[in-house]
Amino acid sequence: MRQIVLAGNWKMHKTQADASAYTRALLSHPLEPNRHIVLCVPFTTLATVGAAVAGQTQISVGAQNIHWAEQGAFTGEISGAMLTELGVRYVVVGHSERREHFGETDATVNQRLVAAQKHGLIPILCVGETKAIREASQTEAWILAQLEAGLVGIDLARLIIAYEPIWAIGTGETCEATEANRVISVIRRHLSSPDVTIQYGGSVKPDNIDELMAQPEIDGVLVGGASLDPAGFARIINYQASTVAV
Ligand code: PGA
Repeated sequence: MRQIVLAGNWKMHKTQADASAYTRALLSHPLEPNRHIVLCVPFTTLATVGAAVAGQTQISVGAQNIHWAEQGAFTGEISGAMLTELGVRYVVVGHSERREHFGETDATVNQRLVAAQKHGLIPILCVGETKAIREASQTEAWILAQLEAGLVGIDLARLIIAYEPIWAIGTGETCEATEANRVISVIRRHLSSPDVTIQYGGSVKPDNIDELMAQPEIDGVLVGGASLDPAGFARIINYQASTVAV
């Protein structure tokens, strides 16, 4: 059974004070049942957000990175044990911003995924193409190569994949819901398990969430900018897909 997972990726936003105010506001909204929410927050707010959502069975805390070593001379990095000690259950791995600005490769992404699962964390593996790759009709080949290299030794039963076309991230340019659905079905057919939760990410907003979640292959979303506002994110996680004709 594929689980519905809606994740917010705060990126480098919000202090602890901001995070407390945010969780208070978010929790004032009732939640639709049978969907799981993950707040992927900066390291400095993991404990604050974890404490605020303790006892909320539908909401978990996620980190935005994990190093593959248990400990060591890796300035600025964070280990699995440091995350699990704070009650973290999910971790974003291979986000395109990490790949573009911090030199992540498919090989380091794989090492981080392995470390996450070793520590009992569920990684959210991000894959996606640039505009140039899309225009060269290489989207499918690119993504399947990212998966091929990234998923070596990974247990598909404890994994989420996020399809995030890079040209749609933070740009306001959304991938058509039907096109996101198509690429996700290509990803799903490539995997040896049909049960992997596959999200869409890239300019997800309150006004396109219903159409996205009405698509049969889309099991959730990874939301950046629009997850920063608790009322907007509450609208996203309380999407009403049944109101949309597909
Ligand atoms: P966005 O970011 O929703 O702001 O486009 C998505 C992401 O980077 O995960």
